[in-house]
Amino acid sequence: MVVNIDRIFSKRATRFRSSEIRELLKITQIPGMISFAGGLPNPLAFPVEIIHECVEKIFQEDIEPALQYGSTEGLTQLRGVLAKRMKKNYHIDCELHDVLITSGAQQALSLIALCFLDPGDTYLTTVPAYLGAIQAFQAYEANCEPIPMNDEGIDTDSLRRNLKRLHRTGIIPKFIYTVPTFQNPSGETMSLSHRKELLDIASEYDFLIIEDDPYGELIFEGSSIQPIKSYDTKGRVVYISTFSKILAPGFRLGWIIASKVILDKFIQGKQAADLCTNVFSQYVAYEYIKGGYLDKHVERIKELYKRKRDVMLEALKEYFPSEVKWTIPKGGMFIWITLPKSIDTSLMFQKAIAKKVAYVVGEAFYPEGGDYNSMRLNFSYSGDEQIKEGIKRLAEVIQDELATTFQQDTFPPEGV
Ligand SMILES: Cc1ncc(COP(=O)(O)O)c(C=O)c1O
Repeated sequence: MVVNIDRIFSKRATRFRSSEIRELLKITQIPGMISFAGGLPNPLAFPVEIIHECVEKIFQEDIEPALQYGSTEGLTQLRGVLAKRMKKNYHIDCELHDVLITSGAQQALSLIALCFLDPGDTYLTTVPAYLGAIQAFQAYEANCEPIPMNDEGIDTDSLRRNLKRLHRTGIIPKFIYTVPTFQNPSGETMSLSHRKELLDIASEYDFLIIEDDPYGELIFEGSSIQPIKSYDTKGRVVYISTFSKILAPGFRLGWIIASKVILDKFIQGKQAADLCTNVFSQYVAYEYIKGGYLDKHVERIKELYKRKRDVMLEALKEYFPSEVKWTIPKGGMFIWITLPKSIDTSLMFQKAIAKKVAYVVGEAFYPEGGDYNSMRLNFSYSGDEQIKEGIKRLAEVIQDELATTFQQDTFPPEGV
């Protein structure tokens, strides 16, 4: 008998959607393709030699526990050094027991969905939004209320309006999801005043703030702005970060800092998911920090990515038509491009692929749709020459598209 798998899949599973970016990554593996689509770190940013040294040290000194199951909370030593670092560098008031090690920041997002969202619940997210978060939240059948970003990182007037509207119908969102520093996908950073205002609003309406911070370390210029978590005295902020952009994503290591009552629930949820995070990776990450390598290596990554950002910005200035606008991120891995309204980046995508250059369509970052004329470009992954060539190709595609849409505007189809 043929398996009737549709009967067996849960309702939840039938709602799962593959992320458009994952699908895109397949196209970008075509030979000769210059891809600004993936959010990948540059392999030159992997501290290969240092990792080798750390692994050797573990083999010489402490190999058995590194190969054993570990506690769900994570390796005690690693939680300790992370707490110390978050306190020293970011003024987050935390100790070892406030830190939970996760299988990447992505698992943190999944635990948030598991522990906070029932079907029909409402959450807020700044848009454009990181797709992986939306994917994690959508799996739990919650309603998303998008809050637009502005040059302060969040439109707090719109947030208040939306909250009032929801409040009138008896809805109080569970949380707001935001990436306040060098955001994925826009590259924008939330101002200090808006971080504090967001905390006030969250307190007024009693919802949590999920602060996702994978890029905060990768600052190229200017002074850093402290995480929202550092201003949180009431346990209202759940702070997430990751080793993916400062060590290597293959380690699958992230962490959460949150109040005890929240962490305890996450730990119960995590036990069912994977018992514990990859123990061997945790030992390597611990050696990496203990050996004093992390800070020095982050400096190297920042230098590399700053150069790549500058190469891309220069190329954009040189090749892109004057009607096109872009963000100038002071850190992170992404630039957000806004094209004239006559261009739909989804419709243009296949033309770009034909010229062997790829981007992510802006609309993909809007869970409820919107902003069809934008795109996200990643500058960390490609080589410098590839960046110049890719931007040149993309500029040609845009010029062609502008010429076509201009003609369409000027000469309406016959009979119209
Ligand atoms: C904003 C954001 N959050 C979370 C993640 C997931 O990171 P990790 O590799 O730690 O799972 C990413 C990855 O790119 C990201 O950009």
